[in-house]
Amino acid sequence: MSLPERVVLVGPMGAGKSTIGRMLAKELGYRFLDSDRIIEERCGANIPWIFDVEGEDGFRQRETAMLDELSQVQGTVLATGGGAVMRPENHALLRKNAVVIYLKTSIEQQVERTRKDRNRPLLQNDDPEGVLRRLFAVRDPLYTKLADIVMFTDRKSPRLVVRQLVNRINPKTPRHKRQRRKEGRQHVPGTQRA
Ligand code: S3P
Repeated sequence: MSLPERVVLVGPMGAGKSTIGRMLAKELGYRFLDSDRIIEERCGANIPWIFDVEGEDGFRQRETAMLDELSQVQGTVLATGGGAVMRPENHALLRKNAVVIYLKTSIEQQVERTRKDRNRPLLQNDDPEGVLRRLFAVRDPLYTKLADIVMFTDRKSPRLVVRQLVNRINPKTPRHKRQRRKEGRQHVPGTQRA
């Protein structure tokens, strides 16, 4: 088995998609893309502002357009927003030429990792834990259905998760072959080269 053209990370807020995605991309010799960050760069505004002005629906439209664009770039590890699975039309975009990885995390870990965050509009209320529980109930079956690999991240360091993922994605690819893939990578406007 050779490496997939793309690796796509799905999972809830606080699952570690960005941290793990960045490290995994380095390990595979792929470019790291973070859908939310690119939306913010293109828009010139942060996600709370987009939710405020355009509503969640406006954000979801931008997200679908971004997933469509990024689905065409090979040699990438893509971290998606936790709600990317909510629109059925996104599913084919997420799966296109990709190995999809669900970073599965307990509610307790999600609460802990998002406690001080002010950049996630859905959690700026009196009961962020209740919101995370309700979102999990709806989204966990969707993440699971889409995923080729389900990886539990609780009580694991990002480094350990990445090592386990590399083994699951392609246990046989030696490091020097992965490095060679860096050469052919494409640039996406609004992202920095690694
Ligand atoms: C969202 C998750 C966020 C971001 C937005 C909505 C969600 O991304 O896309 O705040 O609906 O779960 P992260 O999962 O990277 O926090």
